[in-house]
Amino acid sequence: MARPGSAFVCQACGARTRQYFGRCAGCGGWNTLVEQLEQGGDNRRRRPVVAASGPGGDGGGAPGRPRRSEPIQAVGERPLQRLASGYGELDRVLGGGLVPGSLVLLGGDPGIGKSTLLLQSARAMASRAAVLYVSAEESAQQVKLRWRRLADDGPAAAAVGGDGDEGLRLLAETDLELVLQELESLRPEVAIIDSIQALHDAELGSAPGSVSQVRECAAALQRIAKRQHTALVLVGHVTKEGMLAGPKVLEHLVDAVLTFEGDRFASHRLLRAVKNRFGATHELGVFEMQGAGLVEVSNPSELFLAGDGPSPGTATIVACEGTRSLLVEIQALVSPTSYASPRRTATGIGTNRLHQILAVLEKHMGLPLSRFDCYLAVAGGLEVEEPAADLGVAAAVVASYRDLTLPAGTVLLGELGLGGQLRPVGQLELRLQEAARLGFARAVVPRGSALGPVAAGLGLQLLEAATVAEALVAGLGVNPSASESEDVG
Ligand SMILES: Nc1ncnc2c1ncn2[C@@H]1O[C@H](COP(=O)(O)OP(=O)(O)OP(=O)(O)O)[C@@H](O)[C@H]1O
Ligand SMILES: [Mg+2]
Repeated sequence: MARPGSAFVCQACGARTRQYFGRCAGCGGWNTLVEQLEQGGDNRRRRPVVAASGPGGDGGGAPGRPRRSEPIQAVGERPLQRLASGYGELDRVLGGGLVPGSLVLLGGDPGIGKSTLLLQSARAMASRAAVLYVSAEESAQQVKLRWRRLADDGPAAAAVGGDGDEGLRLLAETDLELVLQELESLRPEVAIIDSIQALHDAELGSAPGSVSQVRECAAALQRIAKRQHTALVLVGHVTKEGMLAGPKVLEHLVDAVLTFEGDRFASHRLLRAVKNRFGATHELGVFEMQGAGLVEVSNPSELFLAGDGPSPGTATIVACEGTRSLLVEIQALVSPTSYASPRRTATGIGTNRLHQILAVLEKHMGLPLSRFDCYLAVAGGLEVEEPAADLGVAAAVVASYRDLTLPAGTVLLGELGLGGQLRPVGQLELRLQEAARLGFARAVVPRGSALGPVAAGLGLQLLEAATVAEALVAGLGVNPSASESEDVG
């Protein structure tokens, strides 16, 4: 039974009941009922809003005056002021820094380093702004220990220059009401809530971390952030499937959703923007976890290149993440299968994509790959989703099948059409620049790029191809579908 002032509301059809049911009587959906405060219920507690404030909280209307619509030209403009987070990689993903009054949600696997990243950033910002760090998961002592570790010999020490972070205040609290009070009395420019799932609104009967708790806590924090122009960073947990835990509506509520990911067994960490109202998404920030904290990696290509030179079954591509291009090594292992249906596994690339590329190679190059197992991996644990990697995958597979080593200093770029044709890729110039910067000498690209002069200026030999067969002949220097004696290179 719902508590006084709250009801169970179906998230699919909006039906309300006083009692919890596993199945909604309105739409028949399972597990869609969520306890929610009734309309007006939360006004009992929260302090009155001083100025009528819409989203953004600074519409320019006089306090208390009812809002009227106005011509868009008449709406007052304010330049978007951003607060540098102290870390270039974090700023890049945020689109230039934290925006006052905005809400940022940072998600990531347990232990990946969310608290470390935010505490480091809080230290760096505290020399310029008032920062409140709310730790709902760890005690003040634990946070202090981490702070000490980062302060004594971490990279943050250099960023803030010794004890420059006296503007950093710490609150270890899980009660939402007390956190809101502290936010109101301190009026910090930045507040970090670690984590939103650990906060607890005593007015709701449900347990901390439940859908209604998370939503109510986030909504209350958002109201105060917009009103006081506080930039709020919320830490969010992820589910077993890697999705952000809590209601989907949380992702709509916040202005930016960042995910912090990485292989727990490798030291590098990737920060991405999944959603950003103040900047581009798909930007990538790269960090390395060290004993004394997270260090920015400004030259990630070196991280993702295996480094020991070309070997059979490897090919290098240039992947683009937002405005950043990275050189990535693709490794393939092709060996005769002993099963009725061959095994195909891929790490860092979709298995369906691999199946498709293998089918194209079989059909258009006559390679009997259906009798071979194929394992594919992207070195360094990066996920490459873009189709521009297709040609690199095909080259690695063919090189492994024929036991060939690609000539050193070759990158391959191109999307494979199902008819075996090579299709153009976006941001080719950016990719070629990155390849040239890291000393690569040859690039195999789709025909019609019109980038010959650019490549010549970069000192790159540009090999253009219209089909996958042509591209592999150009890239490998031999004709992979012919027998060894017919090699052309
Ligand atoms: N004393 C230490 N020396 C070296 N590395 C450490 C030390 N303590 C923690 N770490 C690193 O920091 C990581 C934990 O970081 P952090 O607590 O920031 O993660 P988190 O994402 O906030 O985790 P959670 O979801 O549990 O809050 C560990 O996985 C480890 O790599
Ligand atoms: Mg943490």
